[in-house]
Amino acid sequence: MKILEAKFVQGFIRMCNDGWEQGWHERNGGNLSYRIKPEEIEKIKDSLAADGEWKPIGTSVPAIAGEYFMVTGSGKYFRNVILDPEENICIIELDKEGENYRICWGLSNGGRPTSELPSHLMNHEVKKAASGGTHRVIYHAHTTNVIALTFVLPLKDEVFTRELWEMATECPVVFPSGIGVVDWMVPGGRDIAIATSELMKQYDVAVWAHHGMFCSGEDFDLTFGLMHTVEKSAEILVKMLSMRPDKLQTITPQNFRDLAVDFHVELPEKFLYEK
Ligand code: 13P
Ligand code: ZN
Repeated sequence: MKILEAKFVQGFIRMCNDGWEQGWHERNGGNLSYRIKPEEIEKIKDSLAADGEWKPIGTSVPAIAGEYFMVTGSGKYFRNVILDPEENICIIELDKEGENYRICWGLSNGGRPTSELPSHLMNHEVKKAASGGTHRVIYHAHTTNVIALTFVLPLKDEVFTRELWEMATECPVVFPSGIGVVDWMVPGGRDIAIATSELMKQYDVAVWAHHGMFCSGEDFDLTFGLMHTVEKSAEILVKMLSMRPDKLQTITPQNFRDLAVDFHVELPEKFLYEK
């Protein structure tokens, strides 16, 4: 099968374009990765090169060693992915130790996978274990409203989760485990990857202060939908705070507890504090 005909490749390309259309990917901002299923690799195996040079990942991910990933290229623009996928995205294989990667397809005019590869792969490693193998997508976007909130809300998991849950009734159902927050850190390296993947042990969403967001999910729809829901909630909060600093009414802790019963979700009590 030709790579561009594979369903997961078409889903990956569509998601890049959807993110671009939302305005989350100025210039080369943001990156996307997908942990490819063995049966999907089997179908495209003939189109993959196996003689690429091994390069260090920059961190160690033994629990996903030997697996294949589709990832966006470093410095590549999301808006160009749909026009020329082969030049802007790639498939990489990890070595048996989970220390090195090699390019098997794509980045046809040269280049390397996203500079956030350590964060993507460490998040994949953590979410694979936490989800029993069902999570396959890690998505980083420069979501305007969430970034704006990192200048005015305390950088605490409890505060971001509670404030964003309050802005739309669907939120606690879409991200019941909550949102983690990483203080400002230098992007692109192992330290921010460790901090983010630590939060991903309990959350599907991590905010990077003054930078953006990481989301994890089972497929492209769920992961894009998660990013979209959190960012829309942030937009409502920004609008609300622009009208007046306080709320006349809101969803109360008891309302959340009632919702949890009917929607069969567990909402940790640490987010339902009295204000
Ligand atoms: P890349 O172009 O290397 O993917 O970097 C973009 C980005 O958003 C860094 O955080
Ligand atoms: Zn970024």
